[in-house]
Amino acid sequence: MGGLARLIVFISMFASITLMSEAQYLLPIMKHEPSKQYYTAFDIGSAEKSYATLVLDLETNLTWLNCRELKSLSSLRLITCKSSTCKSIPGNGCDGKYCLFRQPNPLGKPVTGRVVQDKATFSTTDGGRQLSEVSLPRFTFSCATQGLSLPFAGVLGLSPAGELPFWRQVTRAFNVIPKFALCLPSSVFGVGHFYVGGVNGYIIPPFTGSNNPIPMTLTPLKNIDSGKYIISPTSIYVDGVPLSLNPSLLEGGAKISTVVPYTVLQTDIYNALASAFTLQAKKIGMSEVPGMPEFPGFTPFKTCFDEGGSRRNVEEFMNVPVIEIGMPGNGREVKWRFHGANTVVRVLETVICLAFADGGKKPTEPMVIGTHQLQDYMIEFDLSTTRMAFSDSLLSHKTSCSAWPSRRQDHSHMML
Ligand SMILES: *[C@@H]1O[C@H](CO)[C@@H](O)[C@H](O)[C@H]1NC(C)=O
Repeated sequence: MGGLARLIVFISMFASITLMSEAQYLLPIMKHEPSKQYYTAFDIGSAEKSYATLVLDLETNLTWLNCRELKSLSSLRLITCKSSTCKSIPGNGCDGKYCLFRQPNPLGKPVTGRVVQDKATFSTTDGGRQLSEVSLPRFTFSCATQGLSLPFAGVLGLSPAGELPFWRQVTRAFNVIPKFALCLPSSVFGVGHFYVGGVNGYIIPPFTGSNNPIPMTLTPLKNIDSGKYIISPTSIYVDGVPLSLNPSLLEGGAKISTVVPYTVLQTDIYNALASAFTLQAKKIGMSEVPGMPEFPGFTPFKTCFDEGGSRRNVEEFMNVPVIEIGMPGNGREVKWRFHGANTVVRVLETVICLAFADGGKKPTEPMVIGTHQLQDYMIEFDLSTTRMAFSDSLLSHKTSCSAWPSRRQDHSHMML
C-alpha cells in the first residue's frame, strides 16, 4: 500500500471512530402489576402522533402493535416484498405485493401483520433526564390484526437478531454504539429507565454518570444468532455455598427474559436451590410451610416460609439467604448476587415464598431469568462486544430504578 493510500485508510478509520455519535436516548419503563409486564411508550406517527405503549420483549425480532390503537393511519407506509427491509426480516412473508410478518407472541397466540414504516419520536438524554425530542423517520414495525389486552398496544422488539429490533434501528439511524440498558422498576408507582446507545453513562442518584458510574460486572453473551440473550452460569450459590449440580444441567445457559415474572429453573436445579435455601432459612429462625399460589390461577410458589418471630425487613427482605449465580467474567468467575427483594415474595403477612418457579424435568431452556430477579438492577446489553453487564442491586446502594435526578439540578426542559 502506498503512503497516500495508507494515509487515506488511516484518516477514514479515524473519521469513522470520531463520527460515531455520542448521543444517548432514554425512554420510560412502567410496570403493569396485574400482568406483571413491563412496558415503554413513545410517539408513533407523522401527521398526528399516538403515544404507543409497548411491552418490552428481549426475544421479539420485529416490533408489532395493533394499529387500530393509532390515531392516524394515513402516514403509515407499506413495505413491498422486494424491499431489502422485508428481506431482512427472519421468517418474512409476502401478500402478493406487500411484506407480511408472522411471529410468536410472548403473551399469546402468534400474530400476523403487515410490515409498515412511520415516524417514531422519543427523547435524547444526558444520562439522567430526558432532554430533547428526536425522530426516527422510518421506524419499521408490523401492524398486527389482533392486539393485546390494554394497556398495551403491542410488543417492542429488543432481540439480538436481525436488522430490525428497536435498539438496532435507533443505533444505526443515529450512528451510535449498538447497546441498550434496562432498569426495571419494582413498583407500579415508579418509572424505570430504558437507555439506547450512548457513552454518558447512567445517572441514577447517587450515581452521577461517567465520573461516578454504577459499578457493573461483565459476562459474555452466547449464541445471539438464536435471537435470545443467553448467559453461561457455571454455578449457583446459597449463602456462599455452591449447589452440587450435575454440570450438564447448566450447559444450556440462562436466558434473560423481560416477560417471565419469576425465574424458571429445570426441576433438579430448582430442587437443589430450594433445599439449600430452606436449610439456611431454618438456621435464621424461619420455618417451612406448605407452598401456595401467589394468588389463585397464577404462579404457584412451592417453597414458602413462616418468618417466625424474626420478622424480615418488609421493604428489602435483606435478611434472608443470599443467592448468587456464578458465571464467566474477565478470565475469572464473577457472581451476580440476589438479596431478598429479588429472591422472595410476601404472600401473607408473615409468609414469604421463594420467588422461583419449577420449570419441569425437560424444559426448552434449563434457566430463564425473570423480572422479579431483574428489577432494580441496571442490565446492559452491549452488542458491539456481545457482552452483558449487570450492576449490584440498586437497593444495596440505597437507590432504585425509579430514582431520577432531582429537577432542581436540571436546567433543560423536561418531559417526565
Ligand atoms: C428471531 O430471529 C432469529 C434469527 O433469525 C430466529 O432464530 C428466531 O427464531 C426469531 N425469533 C422469533 C421470536 O421470531
